Amino acid sequence: MSYSFDTIIPREGTHAYKLELREKVFGTADVLPLWVADMDFAAPPEVFEAINRRAQHGIYGYTVRGEWFQQAIAGWMQRRHNWGVPLDTIEYAPGVVSSMVMAVMAFTRPGDKVLIQTPVYPPFYSVVKENGRQLVTNPLLETANGYVMDFNLLEKQLSDPDVKLFLFCHPHNPVGRVWTRPELEQLAALCLRYDVLMVSDEIHSDLMLFGHRHIPLASLSDEVAQHTVTLNAASKTFNIAGFSTSYVIITNPELLATFRKSLTALHLYTGHVFSGIALQAAYAHGEPWLAELLAYLEGNVMAVRDFVEAHLHGVTFHLPQATFLLWLNFKQWGLPQADLKDFIIRKSKVGLNDGVSFGPDGQGFMRLNVGAPRALVMEGLERIAAVMR
Ligand SMILES: Cc1ncc(COP(=O)(O)O)c(C=O)c1O
Repeated sequence: MSYSFDTIIPREGTHAYKLELREKVFGTADVLPLWVADMDFAAPPEVFEAINRRAQHGIYGYTVRGEWFQQAIAGWMQRRHNWGVPLDTIEYAPGVVSSMVMAVMAFTRPGDKVLIQTPVYPPFYSVVKENGRQLVTNPLLETANGYVMDFNLLEKQLSDPDVKLFLFCHPHNPVGRVWTRPELEQLAALCLRYDVLMVSDEIHSDLMLFGHRHIPLASLSDEVAQHTVTLNAASKTFNIAGFSTSYVIITNPELLATFRKSLTALHLYTGHVFSGIALQAAYAHGEPWLAELLAYLEGNVMAVRDFVEAHLHGVTFHLPQATFLLWLNFKQWGLPQADLKDFIIRKSKVGLNDGVSFGPDGQGFMRLNVGAPRALVMEGLERIAAVMR
């Protein structure tokens, strides 16, 4: 290992969301923060160096992203995902969630229905509900081997002419699924049949674990690409979520023009001076770091599995195929959610995300972030085991 993922870097004094919002979210700052989906690792050194170089200049005026930005992304998609993306289909975006909002606003009308698959990252609900659209939830089905899609229900729901848009989480947070080609093909065929626009959030697509491979939804075929808006960012991959490194890929020129109109209308087309530089440095030089990160995350997942099996009786989880997030199932404990949270947060002093924040089917679950030095992750589990004893 050339990078020190074991090093514990204190984040106090950096205004970190994960630390600063503990009091507000958990009612106490006295919890080990293993929640919000960023990682407790330093970004690749080349990102640090590029930012430093730019910082030395001293003038931080309005900044644009030119072809260099699109080239960095196109190169990454080709190398990492075997997806040839023309430069003029790539547009800067302020964030993946803001792009979801812009897509909902631009491509549906008030009262239209938007479909999501639950349990899911909480903004999937809010971007629909808070913008005057109706939510249609398609619960994922849990099997012995992990979560799968309920295609029967999906077809029924997509065939409703009021359903205009499908917000897809690919790979899926929190259940950790990497959707396979047959699943994607079946899904896309249904959306095409019922003329439902696909908005595919692929922000976790570089965090592939245990030999899984990401297939960009829009790479399935030209027809699928014409009906898909892809959202992505360098933020999860390289732990640079504090920068705005997001972008959209839209093959269909009409859809792209509509998206650009929203960006212009909202005056969101410039962006942060460091973000393009961070993305470019990460995509150009970050692959060796990413390879070691993924191996480290796999090690964390296996360490958690061993510990849970040995010491946290009644807790189960499916090995994630992607992401640094584990969807822990505490249902065998038979506790109401409030008591489960009391056990984990107040008694054990571990800050995990409440399963119910991902939807009602998150009852009995908590989400653990293993994007941290192994010693911290294990300390969190130790704290829970100690209270169990
Ligand atoms: C599935 C998913 N989409 C989007 C985001 C956030 O993206 P952004 O910070 O670019 O809005 C997250 C962060 O956890 C996520 O898990």
